[in-house]
Amino acid sequence: MPHTIPATLIPGDGIGPEIVDATVSVLSALGAPFEWDRCIAGLEGVTKAGDPLPDATLDSIRRTRLALKGPLETPSGGGYRSSNVRLREAFKLYANLRPARTIIPGGRFDKVDLVVVRENLEGLYIGHEHYVQIDDDPHAVAMATGINTRQGCRRLLEFAFEHAIATGRRKVTVVHKANIMKALTGIFLETAQQMHAQKYRHRIAMEAVIVDACAMKLVLNPWQFDVIVTTNLFGDILSDLVAGLVGGLGMAPGANIGADAAIFEAVHGSAPDIAGKGVANPIALLLAAAMMLDHCRLGAMATTLREAIDATLNQDNVRTTDLGGTAGTAEFTRALMARVKAG
Ligand code: NAI
Repeated sequence: MPHTIPATLIPGDGIGPEIVDATVSVLSALGAPFEWDRCIAGLEGVTKAGDPLPDATLDSIRRTRLALKGPLETPSGGGYRSSNVRLREAFKLYANLRPARTIIPGGRFDKVDLVVVRENLEGLYIGHEHYVQIDDDPHAVAMATGINTRQGCRRLLEFAFEHAIATGRRKVTVVHKANIMKALTGIFLETAQQMHAQKYRHRIAMEAVIVDACAMKLVLNPWQFDVIVTTNLFGDILSDLVAGLVGGLGMAPGANIGADAAIFEAVHGSAPDIAGKGVANPIALLLAAAMMLDHCRLGAMATTLREAIDATLNQDNVRTTDLGGTAGTAEFTRALMARVKAG
């Protein structure tokens, strides 16, 4: 029996508590040895502690270095800064890992199985933006600066190559736009080529693809890809594209891996339009929990969980409404728990 693993649990906002409760129940039915420290963040942090990322939550993750997180609401335009971005910065979560695998067969994109590794801290998302006023138009010119560092490219690319090898993948595709953004994304491509030649040439194949061509190829023939590694903005867009190939946001998990911690979450947000209605699909967070089990070297439990999700969807035909079914969160969770217990 594995020892206890302390982990921070952030239920989050909107549908967060519903899907987190479902996930924790399933993990407990699996016998996963997590010892949860429940913490608050996002809107709940603001209402209960006056801070979207309270010190107690940061302290908990500093201690456990491991978290399962529900979605956190961020106001658009004004208001407080995204707690997700603050978490990435606080724990140097430089790699965002988003696997996309077809679970429900028979759709337009059967048997897709690929992973997007996105740089999470640099690029055009660093927030160096401003307007220049001309005459009476204060927004006459908009400017943004992107920053990619050699060290940032190196640690992300190394993570991607090592992950690809450790998980038995055959190819890493480096996605860039070095023909136009010659410095900003050229440094990423150049670092990849050097690293591959020096360290990975005999261990895994690498190819380089320009981002616009990559988007087209993903839609025409996603099966040609295996592990895609790219900079922040391109990774954000392409990982939503691949989530769309395999059934949408309700099926897309994500892991934020860094030097100081690892935080697992669904790719989707707090879905305020369906919050409290008991209809949310918990699969994205459940698949994130499977990634968390893999991260903690509990691969057998992760496999049991993934197979149970598969069986619930495809053999029991229990599906939530976003997948064309009629089940609510509770009914789906009950059916999944029965599969987990039988497995
Ligand atoms: P969203 O992902 O919350 O919702 C988009 C659409 O997908 C909605 O129609 C929603 O009902 C549906 N949906 C999402 N998850 C679902 C699920 N599990 N089951 C069934 N349907 C689901 O995106 P939106 O509305 O743009 O953002 C809402 C809030 O979430 C915002 O405050 C945003 O900042 C935040 N957000 C947080 C994220 C995080 O914490 N990682 C990620 C993305 C958004």
